[in-house]
Order: sequence, then structure tokens, then C-alpha cells
Amino acid sequence: MDSIYLDNAATTPVSDSVLSAMQPYFSEKFGNPSSIYKIGQKAKSTLENSREEAAKLLGASPKEIIFTSGATESNNLALKGVAFHWSQNLGIKPHIIISSIEHHSILDTAEYLEKSFGFELTKLPVSEEGIVNPRELEKVIKENTVIVSIMYGNNEVGSIQPIQELSQIIKKANEKRENKIVFHTDAVQAYQYLDCDVQDLGVDMLSLTAHKFYGPKGVGLLYVKSGTKFLPQQQGGAQERRQRAGTENVPYIVGMVEAMKNAKKTGKEIADLRDYLIERVTKEIPDVILTGPQIGENRLPHIASFIFQKIEGESILINLDLLGIAASSGSACTSGSLASSHVLTAMGYDDLLAHGSIRFSLGKMNSRDDIDEMMKHLPQIVEKLRGMSPIK
Ligand SMILES: Cc1ncc(COP(=O)(O)O)c(C=O)c1O
Repeated sequence: MDSIYLDNAATTPVSDSVLSAMQPYFSEKFGNPSSIYKIGQKAKSTLENSREEAAKLLGASPKEIIFTSGATESNNLALKGVAFHWSQNLGIKPHIIISSIEHHSILDTAEYLEKSFGFELTKLPVSEEGIVNPRELEKVIKENTVIVSIMYGNNEVGSIQPIQELSQIIKKANEKRENKIVFHTDAVQAYQYLDCDVQDLGVDMLSLTAHKFYGPKGVGLLYVKSGTKFLPQQQGGAQERRQRAGTENVPYIVGMVEAMKNAKKTGKEIADLRDYLIERVTKEIPDVILTGPQIGENRLPHIASFIFQKIEGESILINLDLLGIAASSGSACTSGSLASSHVLTAMGYDDLLAHGSIRFSLGKMNSRDDIDEMMKHLPQIVEKLRGMSPIK
């Protein structure tokens, strides 16, 4: 093997069974589901079968599934759709609650609604392990709160949020309200490892994207509980029960549903590998902080993230990349300067520490050999960079 891929939270390869399930729908069974003749109607029935299967896997009913282009679109649709329904149809200034460690597709959308439309936004704090305290949610719910969006599993540090407890708080608050608060969760990183039955979770909306669990990129879904009011954000055709205009991407939807079926809810092997990685990194390299939950059960099985003190995560990444090893850092290089991760700063790390972060994320192709190979190099890379670092 000439490369080691330890960035499965960024994306995963399309599995063989997904690829073969998709294949016929590109050129052989290529019909448009909206066409009334036979090949169109065949595509329509494939689409509706896929919807049924996706719904079954989520404990939902088929009419509650909207196919989208991925979780970015699903998250945008959830926040904007609900907030605009309240502001435009009910004349209420919406108040949105999110956690302070959401993916940018929630964070930036919520900030956009705040800045451009004057909607109110509350970002819930998290513990130093990156977990929302349900009591904090109770405190900030207001009369004009329209949607609460808390991710199921964090993509940077792997912290798992208490979705069921949060749902109970929202249910209780809703008992006395005419206009019910909508509870949305971004379950992108959690889907293949945690129970995502929407009834068990008690959510009204849930977002997925296929490429995080061996499906294709550019396809996802939004579960919307029956009766949940929102304004569609795309105008055009009558697809998806008029909730999301645009010709459905049948081959990719078929691929996503095949990937959903294959995603086993047992992360045991991957969690063992993650723990092996954590043990080696923290024992063999000095001045390393394991970020996120310290207890395995509160952490997604595939994510292990660290801060390597006194150096920049990006420099480690570049050195690993030269050796054919792919990982990721929480920092984003924007206009020549490194912006530290909002997740780590929300967890209480200062900018300097946050710049030293690296995330390793595991997948079904990884083995102990990959970790052993990576660990032949990482301690030396860290030592070399620390030797060159101006921070002492
Ligand atoms: C937690 C989370 N939400 C949303 C997304 C966005 O998914 P996509 O880029 O497929 O739209 C990602 C992808 O990195 C993610 O990790």
C-alpha cells in the first residue's frame, strides 16, 4: 500500500456494492422520474422504492424523506425553511438555537439568517469535552424560538450529543405552545455508528449525506416529520412533493440507499482501532492533548483528535502527506492566515493550542498496520517541528 487514508470523516470511497447498484441508472435505466412514459415511470418507481427503504432505515414514513444534494443543502433547508415559514407566514421574528460546535453548514447558515435578516441566534456553550448540557437549552428557549439544531456527532472531536434528552426538553416546552419548536439534528457523522431511528431520537428533522458512509458525493436527504411546517428553498418543478425542486438524481439516490443498507451500526472494531491509536499517540508523544470526550462511549468510534502543543497542525499534515498519509486539521487556511477551529475554541482552547490540532478518522479499510506505519513517523515529525518552532 503506497498511501494511508486516515481522513474518513472527510469522505469515504464508494463501496463496490454501491457502485454496482448505481451503474444501471446512468445509461440503461436513465429515465426522468417526472416523465409519464415507461422509462420515466420505471425511474419513478426506483425513486419511490429508494424513498421507502431510506424511510424504513430511519423509522420514518416515505413521505417524510426529501432527497437533496447532501447535508449542506439539507441543513440549509432545515434552518432557512423553518425560520422563513415563521417570519413570512406567521410574521414572527424567529429565534434560532444551535450548538457552538456545529458544522459550518449550520453555523454559517444561522449566522447568515442573523446578519442578513435580523433573526435572533443563540449558540449553546459546550463542555470542555465538546458536549452540550441539556439544562443550558432549557434556559435559552424563548417565546419566538422556532428551531433548535444540535448535531448528533461532532465531525472534529467526535463528541456525541445527548439528542434524546434535548428532545425531551423541547417536547416539554412544546406542550404549552401553539407554534411548536422544531428539533433538527445533523446526523452526518453518526449515521453509520449510532441509532438514527427518528422515533427513538425524538427529532423532527434529520440530515444525512451519503459520502460519509461509502456512498457517492453530492447526494443526501432531509427527514421532515409529517406536519412540520417549512418553506421550500428551491423553486422550479414539482419534485419531492413540491418541497425541493429539481430532477432527482436517481443513480446517486440508489447509491445512497444501498450505502445506508450496508452501514452496520457496530463500531466495535473501529472503536478498538481508535483506542489503539489514542493510546499510542498519547503514550509515545509528549505534550499531546486528546481533545473531545475522554471516555470512549461519548466519542464517535471513528474519530480521534489531538492537540500537539507548540506546533501547527497544518505543518504536521504536510509532513504526513509527503509520506502518503492523509489526515486533517481543525484549522482552515483562509486568505493566507490560519483561522483556528470554532469547535476547539468553544471547548475552551486558546488560539495557540487550537492551531496544533489534528484529526485522524478511521474507516473500514484501516487496520493496525496503518496506525503502526503512521506511528513510525509521527513522533519524529513532531520532534522535528518542535525543534524549529519559535514557541517554547
Ligand atoms: C457534521 C457534518 N455536517 C454536514 C456536512 C456537509 O456535508 P456535505 O459536504 O456532503 O454537504 C459534513 C461534511 O463534512 C459534516 O461532517
